Amino acid sequence: MNSKAQTLFFTTPIYYVNAKPHLGHAYTTITVDVAARYSRMCGYETYFLTGTDEHGDKIVEAAAKQNKSPKDYTNEISAQFKNLWPKLNISNNDFIRTTNPSHIKVVENLLSRIYESGDIYFSEYEGIYCFGCERFYQERELVDGKCPDHGTEPKAIKEANYFFRMSKYQDWLIDYIKQNPDFIRPERYKNEILSFLKEPLEDLCISRPKSRLTWGITLPFDNNYVTYVWFDALTNYISALGFPDGELFAKFWSGTQHFVAKDIIKPHGIYWPIMLKAAGIDIYQNLNVHGFWNVSGSKMSKSIGNVTDPVAVTDAYGVDQFRYFLMREMVFGLDANFTEDAMVQRINSDLANDLGNLFSRILAMNQRYFNGEIPSFVEDESYQTLSLKEPALETIYSFKKAMDSNEFHKGLISVWDFISKLNRYVDSTAPWVVAKDETRKGELAAIIYNLMESLRVVASLIYPVMPQTSVKMSKILGVEQSDGQKEFKTVDEILVWNQLIIGTKIEKVEALFPRIEVEQTKAETQKVAAVDSSSNSSKLVPTPLKPEITIDEFAKIDLRVGTVVSAQKIKKSNKLLKLKVDIGELEPRQIIAGIAKSYAPEDVLGKQVIIVANLKPATLMGETSQGMVLAANSSSNQLFLTGVQNGSVEAGSQVK
Ligand code: MSP
Repeated sequence: MNSKAQTLFFTTPIYYVNAKPHLGHAYTTITVDVAARYSRMCGYETYFLTGTDEHGDKIVEAAAKQNKSPKDYTNEISAQFKNLWPKLNISNNDFIRTTNPSHIKVVENLLSRIYESGDIYFSEYEGIYCFGCERFYQERELVDGKCPDHGTEPKAIKEANYFFRMSKYQDWLIDYIKQNPDFIRPERYKNEILSFLKEPLEDLCISRPKSRLTWGITLPFDNNYVTYVWFDALTNYISALGFPDGELFAKFWSGTQHFVAKDIIKPHGIYWPIMLKAAGIDIYQNLNVHGFWNVSGSKMSKSIGNVTDPVAVTDAYGVDQFRYFLMREMVFGLDANFTEDAMVQRINSDLANDLGNLFSRILAMNQRYFNGEIPSFVEDESYQTLSLKEPALETIYSFKKAMDSNEFHKGLISVWDFISKLNRYVDSTAPWVVAKDETRKGELAAIIYNLMESLRVVASLIYPVMPQTSVKMSKILGVEQSDGQKEFKTVDEILVWNQLIIGTKIEKVEALFPRIEVEQTKAETQKVAAVDSSSNSSKLVPTPLKPEITIDEFAKIDLRVGTVVSAQKIKKSNKLLKLKVDIGELEPRQIIAGIAKSYAPEDVLGKQVIIVANLKPATLMGETSQGMVLAANSSSNQLFLTGVQNGSVEAGSQVK
């Protein structure tokens, strides 16, 4: 850990109020929340800002469509953003609006500084202008003569305007980016900016005549013009900190971490550093750029109606579930695809099965063998061999390494690898066997203590992504909150092993994550479909029932609980997984299961499943299969493995 005191400032883009908040806005804001919560866990003093961008043509147009004044309209939509964030458990310290008088003053200050330094000049300009983008275009930037974003032909207009001398700073910016290799990250976006900078940089038109647009901030040096909306918007990052003299600015500006998606890297990676440089302000620390969410395979767009509503998703599936899915599914920097099926699949496999079952399985054993009290153990040799300290510490380090480089999905993978390890540890130490032998009471205590202590580590590490679940699990385990003020443990605190207090009585608890049943999924899908009309999740049409059988006929089928002890893909098959399933026999059995489209090998490892144990062996793709794993088939052909509710049933138990 870096013990040097640090302060960090995290920002989201300020969102336009021309539309309601959607999945894309939710993702960026949740990501920044995760980064900010993690920063606090590293012991850094952290300030987190989000807000709304409220000036410009787009807003005037959107307000007019609803017969509202821009002011009433912006108040309404800005409030929708502001009210969404607590619902998604966003821990922002401030919410800025560009219509705030304090922001307007700073924009005026910045414009005056740059004007006085001579980098803003007045000139007649004839050019092609896209009203959608609110900016002039160069011919070479157009695609088939049309705006690349709006697909419309820009209009030729002639206007006298104010220009910002960006061209003067082009070489400086190229050098700056090269000398600070992680200034714009991940690397692909740095390269994109550098390749853009290979062409001569045009000066930026930063004014709009009031004859055309009045909804903006008046130029301090010319009353007939308002400023360009990007010049206004970017300034929010310093106005919110009280630039130039504010305490927050002095404290936090040097540790600025901007987060945006790839659509707005040009204003952030080019205009903004040059604006800062021209005004004599230090350059921000990092621009962190993520990819785009598509919905059900296509680009989110209001016209095709697949703009996913984060409120509907959260209401249907829960806030931590939604946060987990977004952070686990998207590789930061790359695009990802949102489908409800994929989300249900992750909730059921990662949250309900892996984490939820492990938690209730261990607490149930502690209840059964130690009356719910955290057992005491002796740190003797047998404890040493049973210790989970090393894998736990390794998990914390790999989690930290991933989170430090914005690889949030990898951070989660390292925790889930540990969860699989714990599931395998339960199976290999077989506490239910140890419990039968009075002389092995110490060993049993060591096993259960180690497992509970490992759950403590898991609970603390999931905090940035799933704060509610983290706090809930920690409370159940009796983990003291560090100082009564913060609800999380710092990374340094998490590293201390053997923290759980012996004798703490653990209350009986309900499942952490209820499984989402197929029927329920369908009902929820219809709710979310209201905002996701392109997802064509079909209804399940029940197949006709098979002919009746007698109980004696059913009794011929030997169903057993088995633990998956190994799983691998089968070459040349995208449907089959080769499993080794322990049903209490001398050797685990090999079963070839057609579940590869729904489960990755690591998803099934350690899982307790139900198998048909007396099915005649068969050969599939050259591999022998000694049995069949039971799974339910959803309307969208996703398979859901059947398992046992209480994970502490021994492998080999009969299912009747
Ligand atoms: N107002 C400007 C930003 C000014 S910042 C000084 C703006 N607003 S916006 O409402 O259009 O928001 C764009 C941002 O929303 C993206 O950069 C990204 O953070 C988020 N997203 C919008 N759609 C998205 C996806 N489909 N996927 C991921 N994030 C997306 O631009």
